[in-house]
Amino acid sequence: MSATSPLRPVLPPDIRARKGQSPLVVLTAYTTPMARLVDAHCDVALIGDSVGMVLHGLPSTLGVTMEMMILHGRAVVRGLVRAMAVVDMPFGSYEESPQQAYRNAARLMVETGAPAVKLEGGEHMAETIGFLTRRGVPVMAHIGLTPQAVNTLGGYRVVGRDGAAEGVVADAQAVEVAGAFAVVLEKVPVGLAARITQGLTIPTIGIGAGVQCDGQVLVVDDMLGMFTDFRPKFVKRYGELGAAADEAIATYAADVRARRFPGPEHGFADEAPKGSRS
Ligand code: KIV
Repeated sequence: MSATSPLRPVLPPDIRARKGQSPLVVLTAYTTPMARLVDAHCDVALIGDSVGMVLHGLPSTLGVTMEMMILHGRAVVRGLVRAMAVVDMPFGSYEESPQQAYRNAARLMVETGAPAVKLEGGEHMAETIGFLTRRGVPVMAHIGLTPQAVNTLGGYRVVGRDGAAEGVVADAQAVEVAGAFAVVLEKVPVGLAARITQGLTIPTIGIGAGVQCDGQVLVVDDMLGMFTDFRPKFVKRYGELGAAADEAIATYAADVRARRFPGPEHGFADEAPKGSRS
């Protein structure tokens, strides 16, 4: 059970009020069953656009569409009782203008039932964040490594080293002033993330940004060990579900080939037992 009030669903002001309190717990979720698991233990279920890479096999998040976010957002919201859903705005759905961002953010909220959106960008998105928050769209910002900008950044690199620290600080301040209720810091050096966290009045939620952030987020499939070939430094694996699934599927395949499955207990007799309806 998380530390926010268990009596009603978590909303953006609850998250904002957790600044300086116990750490916020955030995981991604893309499906109803995973949302139910996350709901029992986390404050926020993030329907990240990472869904494109994790569940759809895309090479980056750039190919993720509004339709994908709506489909997965709805599925997650159905599985939540307490945790707050935050749905990612996909690449190309908000960068053009504040008006475009509002149209798509409102659509995401209305069609999924999520009470907040997340978008990538700092100073250059501040005007849009202000436009959205003044019109009833709570925004979680995302700065540091912004995966939708992978082509301009030149890879999934740490952001904030080699003289770039002040730019990340300026981004953090800009999204706070614009009205974001929280900000994700991705792949920001730990000292810089701690400095940003101390300087802001809104919570920072780190991913690869050290323990001093006000909360932590991970892609749930990463921390469950669903992938054997993907081991980023910032992910701690709390399970080895990929290996367990591989073993289970291999055993099933061997059983089917050897006619060990199905067994008599998995079949139905030709005559229904008396009193049975199956
Ligand atoms: O898309 C996503 O899952 C994210 C988190 C990694 C923060 O943006």
